[in-house]
Amino acid sequence: MARRKYVVGNWKMNGLSDAVTEAQAIFAAADEHPAVDVAICPPFTLIGAMAAALPEAAIGGQDCHAAASGAYTGSVAAAMLVDAGATLVIVGHSERREGCGEGDAEVKAKAEAALAAGLNVILCVGEPRAVRESGGAIDYVLAQVRESLPVEFDPARLAIAYEPIWAIGTGLVPTVDDVAAMHGAIRAALAERIGAGAEVMRLLYGGSVNGENAAELLGAGDVDGALVGGASLTAAKFIPIVAAGAGL
Ligand code: PGA
Repeated sequence: MARRKYVVGNWKMNGLSDAVTEAQAIFAAADEHPAVDVAICPPFTLIGAMAAALPEAAIGGQDCHAAASGAYTGSVAAAMLVDAGATLVIVGHSERREGCGEGDAEVKAKAEAALAAGLNVILCVGEPRAVRESGGAIDYVLAQVRESLPVEFDPARLAIAYEPIWAIGTGLVPTVDDVAAMHGAIRAALAERIGAGAEVMRLLYGGSVNGENAAELLGAGDVDGALVGGASLTAAKFIPIVAAGAGL
């Protein structure tokens, strides 16, 4: 089945209030490529301003807490993201799995909380370099997929982003064959779990995607889009990736 391409910018801890102008430039230019769904996940502090300036745009969080409210200093609940104007959230990014010690069970709880609050979810998985070098990448990532997936979900509302940790922010990317093999394996595992709904789910590749390599990566088998960090901060760098998605 034809899945719409999905290109998502993860701004990480970048952007002050003046960056809303850049987001406006990104979404204005992205409108020229209506075949591609585009979203930006800015820092929490910018979601409200960005959603107010761009009421039609898909704006997301980069994380949420699994609980609805409570004594969790520094955390943000899924309903708070919705309240600020977000329509999606990234969960399980490796910078949180590795940097904040989040395991699969916590990622799963966050994904479930986000879906229950009405957010669409981008659930991230990906192997460290040593696992890739040992030949165990597919097994490692499939275990993450199995353990992090919500018990029940609408496949149209949950995308998986495969982001090899060693490719994030490094300029290194897997071969197109390796990306296709991983995405094919993820799709097969999803089919085992949810049947035909696996054909609806979008599988994004992330890790050093840029305007030069986007067409090749987005054209790989079972790749339905990209999760983009560094190259998503400006329209000049991000739009060529969106255009590559539109050209496929
Ligand atoms: P990058 O980050 O594009 O800067 O490699 C991707 C990500 O971490 O989502």
